Amino acid sequence: MQRLISNFLTALLLLVATTTAQSTDSAGTVLITGANRGIGLAMASTFSEAGYSVIGTARRPEAATALHRVAVSVVPLDVTDPESVSALAQQLGGKPIDILINNAGMVSREAAEFADVDIEKLLTEYQVNALGPLRVTQALLPNIMAGKRKTVANISSMMGSMELNTFGCCMGYRASKAALNSFTKTLAVDMSGNATIFVVLHPGYVKTDMNNGAGNITAAESAAGLYTVITGLDETDDGKFFNFDGKPMPW
Ligand SMILES: NC(=O)c1ccc[n+]([C@@H]2O[C@H](COP(=O)([O-])OP(=O)(O)OC[C@H]3O[C@@H](n4cnc5c(N)ncnc54)[C@H](OP(=O)(O)O)[C@@H]3O)[C@@H](O)[C@H]2O)c1
Repeated sequence: MQRLISNFLTALLLLVATTTAQSTDSAGTVLITGANRGIGLAMASTFSEAGYSVIGTARRPEAATALHRVAVSVVPLDVTDPESVSALAQQLGGKPIDILINNAGMVSREAAEFADVDIEKLLTEYQVNALGPLRVTQALLPNIMAGKRKTVANISSMMGSMELNTFGCCMGYRASKAALNSFTKTLAVDMSGNATIFVVLHPGYVKTDMNNGAGNITAAESAAGLYTVITGLDETDDGKFFNFDGKPMPW
């Protein structure tokens, strides 16, 4: 019952917020997962500054203070939880989503020696980084089809590239991003002819909590590049893998 009431209230807030945003002639609606910090938050700011209505998801919306300042709406979402994903779809109702950015992701600390790697733990990254975006895309497909751009941008990583795997490490993370790349390519092929655009993007090596701030670009720099790439996509880009600076990435 509590979840029902909370869903109803969120749907109501979403309706009021997006109606207000529409009346100010927004550039479109973008939904970004994992938008409460890191690259997701930076993209939420960038898209919002460019005139988009941003719907940001967070596992704990009540703690997503910075996101509340830039998003028209902050909705709860755990991408590993099918109930949470379907609650998001319910809250959106039939609202068109022009761009879905599957950004939520995680990396696990893995043993350096293969003999010590906990194989079962690799499933955690697979659930979040690979199946998570797939679940969200499936649940929001009617919203995406109702949008003008019909674009799904999946934040992958160069770590998912076979060709760029020259230094090993991080089996679960690499495999989960490679699976995400594969899912994206398959969707692009299966849905070609529907005016949809599915891409995967490497955001750069970005200073965020994920790498304890050890990147070589800021989240704002990454978001600026990703914004240019995503908003510049057309149907000829369907099924491709891009760097945040727009250069093609090898699979
Ligand atoms: N940073 C880099 O150098 C780099 C490089 C290549 C690719 N990437 C990719 O870029 C994306 C963003 O990474 P980041 O560096 O910004 O990471 P981050 O700062 O660690 O932020 C990760 C975001 O994902 C959310 N998240 C994690 N698990 C989730 C789940 N089960 N359900 C919903 N949300 C979940 C987190 O929410 P909570 O706050 O609730 O934990 C947080 O909002 C990820 O997909 C990552 O793999 C990053």
